Amino acid sequence: MASSSSSRALLFFFALLSLSAVSCFAAERNEEDPVLVMDFYRDTCPQAEEVIREQVKLLYKRHKNTAFSWLRNIFHDCAVQSCDASLLLDSTRRSLSEKEMDRSFGMRNFRYIEEIKEALERECPGVVSCSDILVLSAREGVVRLGGPFIPLKTGRRDGRRSRAEILEQYLPDHNESMSVVLEKFADMGIDTPGLVALLGAHSVGRTHCVKLVHRLYPEVDPQLNPDHVPHMLKKCPDAIPDPKAVQYVRNDRGTPMIFDTNYYRNILDNKGLMMVDHQLATDKRTKPYVKKMAKSQDYFFKEFSRAFTILSENNPLTGNKGEIRQQRNVANKIRD
Ligand code: HEM
Ligand SMILES: *[C@@H]1O[C@H](CO)[C@@H](O)[C@H](O)[C@H]1NC(C)=O
Repeated sequence: MASSSSSRALLFFFALLSLSAVSCFAAERNEEDPVLVMDFYRDTCPQAEEVIREQVKLLYKRHKNTAFSWLRNIFHDCAVQSCDASLLLDSTRRSLSEKEMDRSFGMRNFRYIEEIKEALERECPGVVSCSDILVLSAREGVVRLGGPFIPLKTGRRDGRRSRAEILEQYLPDHNESMSVVLEKFADMGIDTPGLVALLGAHSVGRTHCVKLVHRLYPEVDPQLNPDHVPHMLKKCPDAIPDPKAVQYVRNDRGTPMIFDTNYYRNILDNKGLMMVDHQLATDKRTKPYVKKMAKSQDYFFKEFSRAFTILSENNPLTGNKGEIRQQRNVANKIRD
């Protein structure tokens, strides 16, 4: 009897010892930030990626241009410091939100992201971050538009602040020099072919006349293909566009709704709308890749997937940084 109770005590002692060893390990691990992983929601919300896929499909059926928005979102969120869904936040009394800035001009469909968030909240409340929703909806948007499916890691957490004042530091303007653009992408670990592939996103969607009139008035930019000019002038008839008139030109007049290599043939043909598009096809650092992507969809998709993955992993908040935002457009209330 005595021996069995003492061995039980010994067992208990060892159990305690191993427990404390485990918690020591856990504490050690918490000190460095956890990394993004494949299928982060495997246990907590196994349907998460499927729910996002279904919602993106349903929204695309109703409004095709939602897919353009999801694709543009990943650039405007991830390239600005971190993929932290700060792009989705509304302005507060203390800070102006990123989406109110001129660099975000034309961004649309934010309220439909809310529908995706709500679908996930119904399924697994408080589990899936807005930043993972933003990144995965971009991925699904690309698929809807005819692009490649890109496997991505998850586990991003949401930032609590949107900071309009740092936007211009990170996002190039429509007429930025190629040197500055290359530098900004290099800072994220995206190389020249990666940049060329990502700008292939301008194979869909639109550009408003405010970003184009400087190439049309007072004189037409001689670098523009003369065959494309009448169309642009028709779409943008005023040197100073009426801000309420929503005047724009489609980025790729040939296949405006399809994510394809037509963009590269257009820019080689001097039909690129923005100066950055035009320069991509003329700068000697980027032109060789433009030519290669114009010829090979496989090469374009491969480089796009690689660069998209790097962009999607730019400086994420993980572990106990940030939060799981309850609502798409406002940071959680701090409870005390
Ligand atoms: C040098 C980098 C870039 C610049 C200067 C730039 C600039 C712009 C501008 C000015 C527009 C027109 C907005 C409007 O008038 O409504 C636009 C549209 C768009 N951009 Fe970019 N962009 C860049 C890179 C990217 C990247 C990397 C992506 C995605 C991977 C992207 C995706 C899009 C999409 C999808 C649209 C169409 C949006 C719509 O139709 O609603 N852009 N971009
Ligand atoms: C770029 O275009 C903006 C107008 O959108 C203009 O204010 C700015 O001066 C231009 N920058 C360059 C380098 O041409």
